[in-house]
Amino acid sequence: MRQYFVANNREELPFNRIERGWIYASAKKENNYEGFGTDRDIYAHQHIFIKNQLMAYKVDKNHPNAKDKTFLPCAKVIGAYNKREKPYRPASVINVSAMSFGSLSAAAVESLNVGAQKAGAYHNTGEGGLSPYHHKGGDVIFHFGTGYFGVRSKDWNFSMEKLKILVDGNPCIKAIEIKLSQGVLPGAKISSEIARIRGVEVGKDVLSPATHKAFDSIPELLQLIEDIAEQTGLPVGIKGAIGKLDQWEEMAELMAKTGKGPDFITVDGGEGGTGAAPPSFADHVSLPWVYGFSSLYKLFLDKKLTDRIVFIGSGKLGFPAKAAMAFALGADCINVAREAMMGIGCIQAQICHTNRCPTGIATQSKWLQSGINVPLKSDRLAQYFKTFRKELVEITHAAGYEHPCEFTMDDVQVNVDDDFLHSDLESTYGYEKAKVKFNGMHELQNCGYLGGKHFWENN
Ligand SMILES: Cc1cc2nc3c(=O)[nH]c(=O)nc-3n(C[C@H](O)[C@H](O)[C@H](O)COP(=O)(O)O)c2cc1C
Repeated sequence: MRQYFVANNREELPFNRIERGWIYASAKKENNYEGFGTDRDIYAHQHIFIKNQLMAYKVDKNHPNAKDKTFLPCAKVIGAYNKREKPYRPASVINVSAMSFGSLSAAAVESLNVGAQKAGAYHNTGEGGLSPYHHKGGDVIFHFGTGYFGVRSKDWNFSMEKLKILVDGNPCIKAIEIKLSQGVLPGAKISSEIARIRGVEVGKDVLSPATHKAFDSIPELLQLIEDIAEQTGLPVGIKGAIGKLDQWEEMAELMAKTGKGPDFITVDGGEGGTGAAPPSFADHVSLPWVYGFSSLYKLFLDKKLTDRIVFIGSGKLGFPAKAAMAFALGADCINVAREAMMGIGCIQAQICHTNRCPTGIATQSKWLQSGINVPLKSDRLAQYFKTFRKELVEITHAAGYEHPCEFTMDDVQVNVDDDFLHSDLESTYGYEKAKVKFNGMHELQNCGYLGGKHFWENN
């Protein structure tokens, strides 16, 4: 009733009607245009503008985007700087963010994985271990947090042995991500299968510990990253939401000193989603994405470390214009969680924590998830990703560039306040983004480390 009769088009949160409608229409390859002009108040505080070029970038007939308008791999190779044994270039700049089997149903995880494969994207496992449903053809980023699900020793610590076995047996795993903050899975969602995969009890809330057992300090974290990379050959990154910066600063200093460090950093925004979290945490802990990301990027920029790291952003960035802004601030890839859920049919019922999700996506009820048609939903996720890439490419060309990595801070303006009215990102956030080495799409297309093999071979 509220959605249909009361709320206006741009009113609802986390995602308003227009945003949801754009994802649904894009996922179904329906008409996702807007008629009669924008209904947004473009003078509103924080509204962003992308500066278009007088003459747009011209795509010649041999350009990869002439054949495939959705071709948009990451401009950086993850793990290249640190010379990891198996570097990885994500074949898509938009990918599925961490969401565990447990927080999501088996049918939802499978739809996301098959969808990722169909779009040449990667699929982050989230904090619940690698389930059989993550193993359907998509590239996988294996993610673990303080609970070490799937790679846990008997004393609830991290087990390198188990990780090595997992990586050796699953070539779909292209990188490892260490999550720095805590996760929660309500008891109502712990089925016997999930209990078995995670090594926990059926029906009891699972609260990952607040801190990691495998390291106590930044030097120890960096050492763990090196050990994992050495033992598995894979690039290793970290994921966190940004608050205080002193320990990040310590990390940057050590990276500059030792020449080592994470291959990628995933920065989550305070506006990001969870399957379940205490409201005071969800509402107030950690900075919104633009503030958190810009502070963190600046810190690594000051130490001249940005070309070593692939920066991944998540926090309501699954819309082409927002992604363009994220690239202008220094992001190299976008992860989407709730937007991906909407791509496969989430209606934003906001009851992920109750096990009663009506769409079958965020529930373990066999009956509710039986409504998910995996081939159809995976097509929808893939189509959403392809539409997203196509529109991001179009915005990029309109700004006179070939790849969004070329966006500079000067290309995006943001409405600030009455004194300055609007200002470019450089003066708003106080740094100049480092230039990303980019020699054209052909080079990305011919890169030996390009992921999404199955997708590109079949297109
Ligand atoms: C159902 C659900 C489960 C999630 N599980 C995890 C998780 O296991 N680990 C993690 O780091 N983030 C988790 N997240 C956070 C997302 O990966 C993502 O960072 C965040 O939702 C912001 O992206 P979005 O705005 O596109 O949703 C989860 C989010 C949702 C909605």
